[in-house]
Order: sequence, then structure tokens, then C-alpha cells
Amino acid sequence: MSKTRFLTGITPSGTPHLGNYVGAIRPAVQSSRRADVQSFYFLADYHALIKGSDPLRLQRSTLEIAASWLAAGLDHEQVMLYRQSDVPEITELCWLLTCVTGKGVLNRAHAYKASVDKNLAAGNDVDADVTAGLFMYPVLMAADILMFKAHKVPVGRDQVQHLEMARDIASSFNHLYGELLVLPEVVIDDNVATLPGLDGRKMSKSYNNTIPLFTPREQLRKLINGFTTDSRAPGEAKETEGSALFQLFQAFASTAETEALRQQYAQGIAWGDAKQVVFERLDQEIAPMRARYDSLMADPAQIEQILRAGGERARALAVPLMKQLREAVGLRNLAQNQAPQAAKAAKSALPQFKQYREADGKFYFKLVSAAGQLLLQSTAFDAPKEAGQSIARLQQQGTAALAELDARLVPVEGVDAAQVSEALDQLSAANA
Ligand code: TRP
Repeated sequence: MSKTRFLTGITPSGTPHLGNYVGAIRPAVQSSRRADVQSFYFLADYHALIKGSDPLRLQRSTLEIAASWLAAGLDHEQVMLYRQSDVPEITELCWLLTCVTGKGVLNRAHAYKASVDKNLAAGNDVDADVTAGLFMYPVLMAADILMFKAHKVPVGRDQVQHLEMARDIASSFNHLYGELLVLPEVVIDDNVATLPGLDGRKMSKSYNNTIPLFTPREQLRKLINGFTTDSRAPGEAKETEGSALFQLFQAFASTAETEALRQQYAQGIAWGDAKQVVFERLDQEIAPMRARYDSLMADPAQIEQILRAGGERARALAVPLMKQLREAVGLRNLAQNQAPQAAKAAKSALPQFKQYREADGKFYFKLVSAAGQLLLQSTAFDAPKEAGQSIARLQQQGTAALAELDARLVPVEGVDAAQVSEALDQLSAANA
């Protein structure tokens, strides 16, 4: 059985908080235990360099995040857990991808555009304080994903555009050099809770309302006591709807436990008591992980060793693919036979027109995708030459010829216009 490869990157910039745990770490650890999944988790430390230039902070955060994932139960022997910077093939691939990425595409990336807009609003030069690293962020991220032929990439909504770009970059590469890269799919899990922070807004570093995941027990109690609540007195019924404290509890508790607290809210539990209940429930889940975390943090050499071993296993996959890609683009051994291997591969990976004659004596053509899917089907022609001329028009004019030939084409069920035009574009790109 071939496994579905899930891959995701975590940028080491800061200390993991409860929101990271509930939104990313816990679901990832759970899915990594599925037998039909092969998981790749990596510390995106090259990406962290784009966001800051504090070496100590980067080192510290890399350690804390690796320790957090391990403490939360990630089995580093089952999954691929590595540091991006331990796999130099990723930066090498990044360059190959850079050379097939339109600059205009990167101009439209949200993060870059946001910086530009901010500069414009402030009356600065458009690119003031914008590094080329920020501009290239999506390409490096595409390299992370494509290097391991990931099928599925679980990310937050803010990363959807990056995934679209990774797909576009992969298809450009494939058009030029053959079907070597796998187009990844984005996975957004809407069932995963987003936690409210101390002030009731989404828990996020940028709002400064977070609770560190592995803060000591008494500190956790104190922080939970600091949750914003309304002014209802003990004995007064409390609303669960809109109660950040209740949502926090729900993210950790079973349905039965949640119902019990709902009852207590209705019966007018004092906020101070409710906070105790929530604190104890969270600490019950966190305490064993916190103990593991503390012992891992006390032994950084062990984490270093785990990450290096993970990096080697990752490279065992990256090196052979990189070799194939170098070969495909022409970074080749000069003494080697110069047969256009990659070009051949590219050709066989293109959609194809097929012209043929049916038992009725008439002539037809069809367009099939590289994978063999029927995309276009013609009506009957009396002469082979007519069928050939229609194919030629489609090849030369691409999508523009579709409208003129409308009467000559029968609809193909389950195929949409976008698939057809994509195939025609591929063919015209290959002919150009
Ligand atoms: N950009 C992602 C974030 O900020 C982190 C990341 C880097 C990533 N490379 C990746 C996520 C590859 C998924 C796949 O969250």
C-alpha cells in the first residue's frame, strides 16, 4: 500500500503556546499515527531567517519547538522530523524553481504585497525594508514541499496562496522538464479549534495574549486566572456562548465534561471556581507532556542528535530526486551520452491529439491528457484531411480555436473548460 505523504513546516520564531498545540501540534501528532500516512515535519529555520536576525533566538526557538513536538508525542522514528537547514538540497531545488517562477507571480504574494502597501501608505519607497528573502518566501516553501513529493500539506488559511503557488511552480517545471514533481494539495482542517487568548481574541503572538504551552503548573494557573470574563456575580447564570474560558475548556475536554461545565455555568458557578476547573482540566493533559518537555530541554544534545538523524533520513529521499532534477535541466556529466532523455520524458508527459477512423468509415480525433483522460472528442469528418486541419488549428491557436470548432466537438462528461485549456496551453508551450 502506498502511503499518502503529509508534510508541514513550522517556523521556529517564538515559544509554542496553547493555540499552537490545539491548532497544529495535537492534530499533527494524531494524524502521524495513521497507518496510511507518512508524515514529514520540519523546522523551517531558513524561513525564520526571513523574519528575524537574532541568532540566539533562532537557536532557542528551534530547540523549544523540537522539544515541544517530541514531548507532545511525535514519534521521531515513525515520522520524518528534521531541520530544513540540514537538507541543503532544499536550497538547491529552490534555485531550480526560482528559474521557472514568474516574477509577477511573486509580486502578488500576500506577505510581500502587504509590505509594499504599508510602504506606499507611509509614503516610502515601495520596497523599503523589503528583503529579497521575503520576496522569495513562496519559492523556498515550494521547494520544501516539492522536494519530498508531498501529496497533502496541512496549513492555516493564511498559507493557501503559498500552496497554490507551489502547485503552479511545480507544473511550470513539469511542462519544461517532464513530470518529475508532484502537485501538492492543501489541507485545511476546519474541525480544529482555534483558541481564544487571554483577551478573548484569537490566541496569537501578534496579539500578545498567549499562554506558553509548557509554562510551569502554578504559572498556568495564574495565567488562566487572568482570562477576561464578564462581571456576573457568583450565583448568577453565565453564558457559555462567547465565553473564552469555556472555549478553552472545550478544546481539551470530552463532550461529557463540556456538558457538565455548561450545567455549572447555568447554575451560576463563580468565575474564580470556573477558572479552577478549566486550569485543572488543562493541566491534566499538559502535565505529563510538560515533564517530558523539561527533561528534553535539559538535554539539548539529545534533540540535536534526533534532528540530525532525521535530516539524514530526509536527505536519503532528497538526494536521489535532486540528482534526477539536475539531470532533467541539463546539469549533467559531460562525458555521458547526450540523448535527450529528459526531453523525451517531457514529451510523453504531454497531452496528445489522436486521429483515427471508426467502423462507420468516418474520421475522428480526440485529445487525451498525459494520464490518458479523454478531454476533447470530435464529431465525424468525411476526410482525414479535415480532421487534421482541425487539430492543427487547435495546436496553433489553442483555446481561441475552441469556439470556432464548437460544432465539431461533442461534450465530454466530467471535463471542464479549464482542463481543456490547460492541456492546450501545455501543448502550445511545448511547441513554442
Ligand atoms: N510558511 C509556513 C508558515 O508560516 C511555514 C512553512 C515553511 C511551511 N515551509 C513550509 C508550511 C512548507 C508547510 C509546508 O506557517
